[in-house]
Amino acid sequence: MNNQRNKIDQKIFKGKVVDYSHDGRGVIKINKNVIFVPNLLIGEEATVKITKENKNFKIGQVQERITTSSERVVPKCQYFDLCGGCQLQHMSYKHQLEMKHLRVKNALQHISKLYLKIDPIIPSSYETKYRNKIQMSFSNNGKDLICGFYKQKTQNIIQINECLIEHPEGNTIIQSLRKLLQSYKFKAYDPISKKGWIKYAIVKKGVFTNQIMLIIVSNDKMFRKEKQIVNELLQRHKNINTIIHHNSNSNYHTLGGESRVIYGEGYIYDEIKNYKFRITPESFYQVNPYQAVKLYDEAIKVLNPKKGDLVLDAYCGVGTISLLISKKVHKVFGVDNIKEAIEDAKVNSKLNESSNCEFICEKASIYLENSKIKFNSIIVDPPRDGLKSNFINALIINLPEKILYISCEPSSLARDLKQLKKYYIISKVLPVDMFSQTYHVETITLLIRK
Ligand SMILES: C[S@@+](CC[C@H](N)C(=O)[O-])C[C@H]1O[C@@H](n2cnc3c(N)ncnc32)[C@H](O)[C@@H]1O
Repeated sequence: MNNQRNKIDQKIFKGKVVDYSHDGRGVIKINKNVIFVPNLLIGEEATVKITKENKNFKIGQVQERITTSSERVVPKCQYFDLCGGCQLQHMSYKHQLEMKHLRVKNALQHISKLYLKIDPIIPSSYETKYRNKIQMSFSNNGKDLICGFYKQKTQNIIQINECLIEHPEGNTIIQSLRKLLQSYKFKAYDPISKKGWIKYAIVKKGVFTNQIMLIIVSNDKMFRKEKQIVNELLQRHKNINTIIHHNSNSNYHTLGGESRVIYGEGYIYDEIKNYKFRITPESFYQVNPYQAVKLYDEAIKVLNPKKGDLVLDAYCGVGTISLLISKKVHKVFGVDNIKEAIEDAKVNSKLNESSNCEFICEKASIYLENSKIKFNSIIVDPPRDGLKSNFINALIINLPEKILYISCEPSSLARDLKQLKKYYIISKVLPVDMFSQTYHVETITLLIRK
């Protein structure tokens, strides 16, 4: 023991990984020390150097890996060591699924003190090229215009020619745009000097309809050489359906300003299970559409709605779940705080000839606090930070028979379940892999009123 403590004090020690942190780093425990070590798998032994010490944990760096797990694979992406986007590429896909299952279990045990059976995780049909939305940031590198993602733990953009998990057309369209802008001597916007123009490019694809939207985000309403650039892009990529120029003055939100359609209709469609969905630049749409089909199928099966049910789909986006469930229930109320998403949801309701969905643009908590309707089921599918406390308070007052919680962040799910478990039995926890190669995991949880 003393020997081990000495090694920790000396900042270099030998240890074996026994667990994973939420983001897939190996966890080594020595005495009361918890050390997070990137790029180390469960069971692997290594000599590790402490690089950072916090109150409750330390961060380590592998000096030499002594043993190698049979689950270790060579990352497929050339940018794995630089880009922070995919954290699990060094794990076999089978092991990525094990890590995510463990992540959900750990969160529920540690945060909500729930010791439940967790269903086997539903694997992804595609381990790469599954994302229907690619977003890259621009930067200046001397005379060159570059675009890609942030280098891990820095504010520096690295040039990424091809992202492994994005649909390939998105990659090529964005690189074409970069080359065109470079040829016309455009500069990336620099938030410090406040000079330059281009900020981001986003490509969204309806993978089941083959429709493509390009969004060019800049710091200015003016788009110099707009016609030439649009024409050249369309010549090179005949499958682009619409191009939008978005002028954003926000340093925090990608789309924090005004959109202007510069080619096509300004939206695309996608299809899920014979339902058509219109998608605009600002509205949320699941980024792994192949898995979204499974997610929605499973979620509706788990909820097991009844014909007479009144359902609230809080955080409804463009109305996907509302519309998919609508034929099985009496009425669905869909709420989202993004105006464009609700406009899309209303159009989608008409497109799919649904007569029992009502869509409301409002904060979910305000809507529920003021609603006089006694819902049979409430579906929640919030962003990563989970449910706001005023929404949970309103939920406890409404007290529906069932809550279906679709979560993309186990720690906020666990925090919210900790409060809800007083009133509800957690009857099912089903993880779904929507984001292969990354540590993110989606979870469907069914809560039944006690
Ligand atoms: C994870 S998405 C889920 C969307 C939809 N259920 C789907 O599967 O496509 C979360 C949605 O919550 C919306 N949202 C975020 N905060 C909200 C709030 N306070 N009230 C209502 N909606 C909110 C976002 O606009 C987004 O559409």
